[in-house]
Amino acid sequence: MLRSVFTKSASNFFATSRTALFNSTRSTFVNPTASIKTKWLTKIPIQKSISVRSFSNGAILKQVQNTAKNGQAKNLLNSSKWVGYWLVGTSGLVFGIVVLGGLTRLTESGLSITEWKPVTGTIPPLNQKEWEEEFAKYKESPEFKQLNSHISLDEFKFIFFMEWVHRLWGRAIGAIFVLPAIYFATAKKSSPHVNRRLFGLACLLGLQGFIGWWMVKSGLDQEQLDERKSKPTVSQYRLTTHLGAAFLLYMGMLWTGLEILRESKWVKDPNYALKLFSKLDNPALKPLRGLSLGLLGLTFATAMTGGLVAGLDAGLIYNTFPHMGDDWIPSKRELMDKNFARKKDQSDLIWRNMLENPTTVQLNHRIFATSTFFAVLAVHMYCNKRKNLIPRNALKSMHSMMGIVTLQLGLGIATLIYLVPVSLASLHQAGAIALLTNALVFASQLRKPRVPMRILIGGLFSKQQTQNGSKILSAASKLAK
Ligand code: HEM
Repeated sequence: MLRSVFTKSASNFFATSRTALFNSTRSTFVNPTASIKTKWLTKIPIQKSISVRSFSNGAILKQVQNTAKNGQAKNLLNSSKWVGYWLVGTSGLVFGIVVLGGLTRLTESGLSITEWKPVTGTIPPLNQKEWEEEFAKYKESPEFKQLNSHISLDEFKFIFFMEWVHRLWGRAIGAIFVLPAIYFATAKKSSPHVNRRLFGLACLLGLQGFIGWWMVKSGLDQEQLDERKSKPTVSQYRLTTHLGAAFLLYMGMLWTGLEILRESKWVKDPNYALKLFSKLDNPALKPLRGLSLGLLGLTFATAMTGGLVAGLDAGLIYNTFPHMGDDWIPSKRELMDKNFARKKDQSDLIWRNMLENPTTVQLNHRIFATSTFFAVLAVHMYCNKRKNLIPRNALKSMHSMMGIVTLQLGLGIATLIYLVPVSLASLHQAGAIALLTNALVFASQLRKPRVPMRILIGGLFSKQQTQNGSKILSAASKLAK
């Protein structure tokens, strides 16, 4: 059936693919010396690396057939490298907005705009009268009444500006993400696999706008503040959700962007790709692959505990390290303070203290942070012992991760000891994203290629040898140029 859809050479390509796939058995490795015969190529060496576990159910073959039927063969397997550059660039904008968001919080500017107007809010007050009106709205907020009643219009303009730029930057990311995504998908520059991710990321981006406003509302509403027995600040839960969603968005964009760029490099140089595949398919790398994902998860979790510290201003107490006060850790009475329980039977004592008591929250962040440091150290030592097995780029990433985690630990301690100055706290936040970036790059460099990529690279390698190939192979090469 496929042969009737495609040109002769394309059908050869799929014949090759199928042979390669069905020569392989579930979760086993193909004999390294084996080769398969095709019409347009006498022999394709099947790398030891070609494991086709996920292919054994035929799902991808079906996708290949469906895509072929719909005439979208051009975008079947890979995406244009420009999609990769755009995604990495947009993730850079997300990095920037996270740092700006941190500065907005640290300069206590986040509650200065008391309304959420997605479209008209783009325009700031333009004359004295409009500024006076905006200031009057702020004067009604709990923050002005309880903390800022002394500020002048000029001081208000500064905090307004910080929050306005933050929101404007968010809108800009929305436009810079969504419009090109539509273009890339409709112009068939991005593969269906990437389009699904783009759709998910666009939804997360939209959700992040709502989370942002939901967070700000928690600091403007006196009833909610009374319930939390809090001064006018946003809820630490909502702040951490906002931070977590931003980190997920960032990681999703970067992961997909790097994947596309990596695959483009392979398509350009199938010889290099096949050598890398055989390294990546070494079963001895399996534990390290798991560890790399573990490090990514642990870094993310540490960052979330940091969000809680920031949300509760828990960095303003116990400003010593490694001791907390006179001892290694505060007393049990203080860590599990009964005043934080809201239920009469105190069944919520533990989790409320873990998430709402600044002392316990700070201790948790210390524990997570030190665990992250020692986990990176252990994996670093593990890698150094197995240097020859690990792809060179991944080894380099591990070395830089060791450096960044040490720096981040130092920055965290300095932020604490110096009572959270804006400069150090902001650097510490940027350090968290840098560490997360490094953990993500490390994990992505150890990732095995997707099955469709193996097929494509196998085909391209053969094409290089015979100067013969299908339309789909030429299209794939074009996308990578
Ligand atoms: C792997 C190491 C670490 C990571 C990934 C990390 C991550 C973070 C993150 C993401 C925040 C929230 C920043 C914000 O939203 O503004 C934070 C806050 C904070 N972290 Fe860490 N941290 C680490 C180590 C440490 C250490 C060792 C300390 C000190 C003992 C520390 C002390 C603090 C303090 C005091 C804050 C609150 C700063 C503020 O109020 O803005 N961190 N951390």
